[in-house]
Amino acid sequence: MDMVQETLGVTEETLDPQDWADVQALSHRVIDDAVDYLRDVRDRPVWREMPADVRDVFAAPLPRSPSSLAAVYDEVSRSVMSYPMGNIHPRFWSWYMGSSNFTGALGDFLAAIQGSNLGGGNHAAGLMDSQVVNWCKQMLGFPASAGGTLVSGGSMANIIGLTVARNVKAGIDVRQHGVAAIEKPLRFYGSDQIHSCHRKAMEALGLGNRALRRIPTDAGLRMDIAALRAAIAEDRAAGFKPACVIGTAGTVNTGAIDDLRALAKLAHEEDLWFHVDGCIGALIAIAPDNAHLVAGIEWADSVALDPHKWLHAPFEVGCALVRDAVAHRKTFAVTPEYLESTPRGLASGEWLHDYGLQTSRGFRALKVWMALKEHGADKFGRLIDQNVAQAGYLAGLIEAEPELELAALPTINIVCFRYQPGLAGEAPKALNTEIMLRLQEEGIAALSDTTVHGQHWLRVAITNHRTRREDLDLLVRQVTRLGRQIAAEHPAAF
Ligand SMILES: Cc1ncc(COP(=O)(O)O)c(C=O)c1O
Repeated sequence: MDMVQETLGVTEETLDPQDWADVQALSHRVIDDAVDYLRDVRDRPVWREMPADVRDVFAAPLPRSPSSLAAVYDEVSRSVMSYPMGNIHPRFWSWYMGSSNFTGALGDFLAAIQGSNLGGGNHAAGLMDSQVVNWCKQMLGFPASAGGTLVSGGSMANIIGLTVARNVKAGIDVRQHGVAAIEKPLRFYGSDQIHSCHRKAMEALGLGNRALRRIPTDAGLRMDIAALRAAIAEDRAAGFKPACVIGTAGTVNTGAIDDLRALAKLAHEEDLWFHVDGCIGALIAIAPDNAHLVAGIEWADSVALDPHKWLHAPFEVGCALVRDAVAHRKTFAVTPEYLESTPRGLASGEWLHDYGLQTSRGFRALKVWMALKEHGADKFGRLIDQNVAQAGYLAGLIEAEPELELAALPTINIVCFRYQPGLAGEAPKALNTEIMLRLQEEGIAALSDTTVHGQHWLRVAITNHRTRREDLDLLVRQVTRLGRQIAAEHPAAF
């Protein structure tokens, strides 16, 4: 460095450290702390509120002058690492997310160190990206010839599948002429339990929310196939073009799985695209005890799955698979002259940005690849079965506790229940919401809530390789303790 400065008389800067040995020592500390952090996660609260001085850190203005990396790390350690969302904790069961893993975190670190851009090109990361997509196909029983891409998560994976569906079924070149030129308005179908990301997808695709017909569900919250058939016939008669049916393999409310075989058959008969939102349940295909629940997923035209859920990859990584690889590429590929391929060299590899909306893409594959290599896919399958069995165990505990009420036996890993000491009207909702908030605030467990069959329920989604049955025993004890305590504090209300 000094040679350049001395020779040319200019100061040239870099972000690289002045003293690599310093950085090495600090990095060892960071890794040691990270290992301790994960090892001891069970001993910490699931979640805790941030005090005002911590919140203030995030209101500080742009730093214009430097700090030492050690000081920066200390601040992160104090203000960020101590106040996580909590989803790596064994008693986090809110919404629906995986619990991450150390190997995956190392993968993210190494991916950032290598720094490759997965827009494509001839380099190892590019091949690994395609390999992980191929592994996803193998896990779901999709043909090797199918297309696919890694994306930020399930919402984006669904958008990829639905965009291909729209373009294939539009009857015109939507890419050139836009949705306004589509002769008959397209209709998509999903159950009334469909995830909210599909609404966003329909809006972003220019089709509009109303083009997604919500089909009623049966008592088990699976799409009513007869009602779907009737809706398609009604739409055809009214001049719409039925284009796509979205089956859900694992609904976010209760984990219900649509009859994928029946939907595949119906889609084939009616000439519809068959997309499966498998963000929750597609990976059940690798779980020996429960794989039968998602039979038929391999017949889909496209599937969205989510390695950052049941493969526990650190956020973010989703995957879209499209049976017709040509249709997939035709939906997104654009080759400007500055991204043309060359016969040899760096630009001779595949351009992976041709399979989605992003140009620059992160190296998401490495965290998935490393964890799959380390543990083997079979272990991930067993962990999925373990979570499903734990949900059954929790349901049993709830049924055995007179003050608790189970909404329904779980299909997979989602359990809806409530504290119900014989209350009526709005009281159960108020009481259970308070229980949920206190469980969070006391750092005991993180649950969320939902409405099923018009009633309010607490909701436990066990997508967690750290959860043990003793955690579920504790949950039941704590819910009943809090229920009684809150009722005693507000005798007039409950
Ligand atoms: C059924 C379903 N689809 C889609 C999504 C969206 O996935 P992501 O949060 O990875 O975007 C979720 C998220 O939980 C989901 O449960």
